[in-house]
Amino acid sequence: MPNFPELSASLKEIKGGTFADFASRMAELKETGKLLPLHLGDSYLLPPKEALEAVDQHDLQTHVYAPVPGLPELREAIAGKHETAYENVFVTTGITGGLNMLSHALFSPTEEVLVITPSWPLIFGILSSAHLKPVQVPISENGWPDKHPNALLKNLEAHLSPKTKGLYFSQPNNPAGFVLNDTYLKTLAEFVAKHQLWLLVDEAYRDLLYGESSQIPNVYSSEHPLECIQKQTFRFCSFSKSYAMAGHRIGYVLGHENSRQAIHKMRTHHCYQAPVSGQKMAIAALQTSPLYLNEMRQQYKSLRDLSVSALKDIIPFRVSDAAYYLFLDLRQQLTSKKELDDLLLRLLDDGVTLARGSVFGKDFECFARLCFSALPEGKLTQALSIVKTHLKTRL
Ligand SMILES: Cc1ncc(COP(=O)(O)O)c(C=O)c1O
Repeated sequence: MPNFPELSASLKEIKGGTFADFASRMAELKETGKLLPLHLGDSYLLPPKEALEAVDQHDLQTHVYAPVPGLPELREAIAGKHETAYENVFVTTGITGGLNMLSHALFSPTEEVLVITPSWPLIFGILSSAHLKPVQVPISENGWPDKHPNALLKNLEAHLSPKTKGLYFSQPNNPAGFVLNDTYLKTLAEFVAKHQLWLLVDEAYRDLLYGESSQIPNVYSSEHPLECIQKQTFRFCSFSKSYAMAGHRIGYVLGHENSRQAIHKMRTHHCYQAPVSGQKMAIAALQTSPLYLNEMRQQYKSLRDLSVSALKDIIPFRVSDAAYYLFLDLRQQLTSKKELDDLLLRLLDDGVTLARGSVFGKDFECFARLCFSALPEGKLTQALSIVKTHLKTRL
């Protein structure tokens, strides 16, 4: 037997693909056109027309290396939108690429980063792959913020160690779809300032709010609770959700004067630059009328309402205020991860996939996430009726 060298220790910390164990069955169903996928955060919508037509494949500039921090025209457009200096904008290969890069630039191996859960699952592996320790801190038992942030603050304090160096959360939240209010943000800002942490705010769903305001503010005004810790904060935004461009891998980090050199250095060695074709699409996307975003929001909101009315009498869950998920609370029906897996497998037999709660945090084993934006209305209705039938038989 040949003797192979060992794989990296951090690789062992990273869980396999979030849906790896269902992959072969899903592939079969996809092949036969029977898959109704509600597990991934995808959209059935196309990017804006202007973006679809933005890339000239015959222009040599589309194919050669481009500036590390991003195409100047794109950086300018983003800087204008967020009323920040051009130099503070770094275009990245999606938020995923931005977080990967900053995890290496801000932290040293073995340091700890607090992650408010339930959370986007890839953050755990991103931190582990940078030889860091993600430390999960649940927002509450039911995955939704309490009225007051006192319990969360206590919980954050309890998870601090001499190695704690950062805090990550998504605003709005994936998977539960809540938006932290100013009282929460103020508490988190004070916590970050007091313990001298880096703050990573993931705004992937910033344009998908369904309440009175339709997006997270582009600019943090001087009264915004996070403004006072601006020099410790990095905001991560993406074209994946706002413009249905996930396949093109374009996001950006908003940094500040002190961090420019560090980001530039790390970015060069991390993956150099984001795809030029995607950046050109992003420039065009930013030039589209706000109607695109408004229509997208309307469509998702009506799909959310459809999903809520299909399931509300069967199981408890909070109606999401943002993003494109429902985080189903199955604790009354199920008592273990095994029971949830059985349910998910039975759903898969009928072609429907949901994401299991444990991938969003260890305290959410008996939850499941349903994505309502991945299928058009007709197919979503079909999928919801299958989910409903399976959940009813559990009662
Ligand atoms: C909270 C959150 N952040 C980041 C991402 C990934 O963003 P990107 O496609 O820009 O890498 C996702 C994707 O689902 C997400 O839910």
